[in-house]
Amino acid sequence: MCGIVGYVGPNSSLDVLLAGLSRLEYRGYDSAGVAVLDRAGHLGTRKRAGKLVALLDDLEVEPLRDGETGIGHTRWATHGRPNDGNAHPHLGDNGKLALIHNGIIENFSELKQELLDAGETFTSETDTEVAAIMVGREFRATGDLAEAMRRVVARLEGAFTLLVMHEDVPGVVVGARRNSPLVIGLGDGENFLGSDVAAFVEFTRRALEIGQDQIVTIRPDSVVVTDFDGNDVEPREFEVEWDASAAEKGGWSSFMAKEISEEPEAVANTLLGRVVEGAIHLPELDPIGDDVLASIDRIVVIACGTAAYAGLLGKYAIEKWARIPVEVVLSHEFRYSEPVIGPRTLVVSISQSGETMDTLMAVKYASQAGARVLSICNTQGATIPRESEAVIYTHAGPEVAVASTKAFVAQVTALYVLGLHLARVRERLSAHQIAEQVSELQQIPAKLADVLVSSERIKQLATWMADTRSVLFLGRHVGYPVALEGALKLKELAYIHAEGFAAGELKHGPIALIEPGQIVFVVVPSPRDPLSLHPKVISNIQEIKARGARVIAIAEQGDTAAIALADEVIPIPLAPPLFEPLLAVVPLHIFGMELASAKGLDVDQPRNLAKSVTVE
Ligand code: M6R
Repeated sequence: MCGIVGYVGPNSSLDVLLAGLSRLEYRGYDSAGVAVLDRAGHLGTRKRAGKLVALLDDLEVEPLRDGETGIGHTRWATHGRPNDGNAHPHLGDNGKLALIHNGIIENFSELKQELLDAGETFTSETDTEVAAIMVGREFRATGDLAEAMRRVVARLEGAFTLLVMHEDVPGVVVGARRNSPLVIGLGDGENFLGSDVAAFVEFTRRALEIGQDQIVTIRPDSVVVTDFDGNDVEPREFEVEWDASAAEKGGWSSFMAKEISEEPEAVANTLLGRVVEGAIHLPELDPIGDDVLASIDRIVVIACGTAAYAGLLGKYAIEKWARIPVEVVLSHEFRYSEPVIGPRTLVVSISQSGETMDTLMAVKYASQAGARVLSICNTQGATIPRESEAVIYTHAGPEVAVASTKAFVAQVTALYVLGLHLARVRERLSAHQIAEQVSELQQIPAKLADVLVSSERIKQLATWMADTRSVLFLGRHVGYPVALEGALKLKELAYIHAEGFAAGELKHGPIALIEPGQIVFVVVPSPRDPLSLHPKVISNIQEIKARGARVIAIAEQGDTAAIALADEVIPIPLAPPLFEPLLAVVPLHIFGMELASAKGLDVDQPRNLAKSVTVE
C-alpha cells in the first residue's frame, strides 16, 4: 500500500524522487520520506507525517543536500502510527544505511527480540526498522549490499518490497520483492525502481518486470536481477503504453473528475483491436486455448471492492451468452471456503492494480489447485498477470484517484468481451448474434458521453444533499451491482452511511429503514426490458415514496412511469439490459465525487484508504 521509488544516475536524485512520490502518493499518503547520498558521500534523510506536501514544505525550509543516489517512500501505515518517527526511510549500520519497505514482515516481533538481545536499539514502532538493522549488520559482515539483502530476505516472512542504499556503495540501490510490487525503469546512464511505472514514466517508458522472490541491483549503467539464491534471472522488458501526461490532472479539479470524464474512452480502448468485422478477437487467451475454454464447466470470478461488482455484472453476461455457471467470490473469502475447483474450472481474477494481495493469494491458490487462471488487469508489469496463465488487459489508462471509476467500466467491457468469446467457442451464440451484441457494445462510448452531460445537474443535487447522513441505493438484476457500486463510492468518498440493496429484497427487511426524507437512488430497468422487471421496480418506488422517501431514479430517457413518480430522474440513453449498467453507473460515480466535494473532502485521497491494497 506504500509507494516506493529508487534512483541512480547523474541527475538530481531529489527531483526524481519527489516527482515519483507525487505520482505514487495515491498508493499511501499518511507520511513520506526520502534518503539521498550527497556528492560528498554523506547519507541524508528527511521524513514527515502527513501528505507529501508536508515533506515538500519541510525541504523548502531546510533543503537536503542533493546527490545521485536516492530512495523515496510514501506510506500507508500498518505497524505503528503515522508519525515522523514511523515514516520511512529507516536507518541501519549506525545511520550509514537507509531502507524503505512496502508490505508486512509477519515475523518481525521475534526478529526484533533477537536484535534487542544482540544490543541493537530501535527508534520506531515499525516492522521495517527490523529489516534496516538486519541488512546493516549483514552489510558489515559481507561488504556486499546485494548479498546482505539476500541473507536478510531468507529470514523474513510475509510480503515485502525493500529498497536499500548505503553510504559505502554510492551509485547503488538494491531492491527485493516478495508478493509486493516492484518494477525497473531503464534510462540512459540512469536507472530507476518503482512500485509501479508511474514512479518513473516521466523519465523513461522502458521497463523491466521483476518476478517473485527476486533481488535487483541498479547502478547508473547496469541492472542485475537474481533470485533469492543469487542465480541470475533475465527479466522481461516492456514498453509503458501511456506517457506522463496521462497521469496528470490535465486541468481537471481532481484525478477522479478526469477519470470519470475518461469513462467513454476506457470502454472504447478496451474494445480496440478486440473486435474484427463484428467478431471477437482475443489472442491473449491462446495460452489457455479454445479447446480448454470449450470444456470448462464452471467459472469462479475472484476480486475485491469495485472489481467484484464488475464481476457480478460479468456473471449475468457470461451465463446468458455462454451458458456456463459463474460464481463471484470476494478474493479474501475464496481460499478459506476450500473451494471446489479443478482443471475444468476457469478462475477469472479482476484487479485494476494487479497487486491486490487478497486477489493475488487467491490466484496462487487457484493455480495450485489445478484450475485454469485468467486475469483481467489494468496495470502492465503487475504481479497478478504474471501469476496467471493468460491476461486480458483493460486499457483504461492510469487510474490515480483511489476510488475506482473508469477501471470499472473497462473491467465490465473486458468481461463482456470474454463472455462473447466463450459464447463462440462453446457454440452458444451464432456469429450474427455475437455481431449484434458487439455492435451494441461499440455504441456504449458515445452513449456514455451523453450521460456525462448530466454532470451539472448531479452536482446541484449533491450540493443540496451535502448534509445527508444516509443514502440507500436500489437495483434489480444488472441494476443490483450498480446499486452496490453507488453505495461503495459514497461510503469511501463522502464518509456517509450508504447501502446498496437488491430491490426485490426491500420487503424482506430494508424497507424498515425508510422514513420521511430518506434519500434513495433507484436504478430503474428499461420499460422495454424483456424480463419485465420495470413494473416491479416502479412498484418499489411507490412503496418507498408512500413512506416518505425522496427518490432519485436513474432511468431510460422517456420512462414516463419513473418521471411521474420520482422526485428527480437522471436520464440514460437506450441500451439493451446487459449494457445499461455501463451507463447507469456513471451518474453514481459523479454523485459520490460531487457530494464529497460539497463536504470539502479530498476526493482523490479519501481517509484511511490506499489505491492498491497490498497487504492481506
Ligand atoms: O486494484 P484492484 O482492482 O484489485 O482493487 C480492488 C479494490 O480495492 C478497489 O476496487 C476498491 O474497492 C476501490 N477503492 C473502490 O473504489
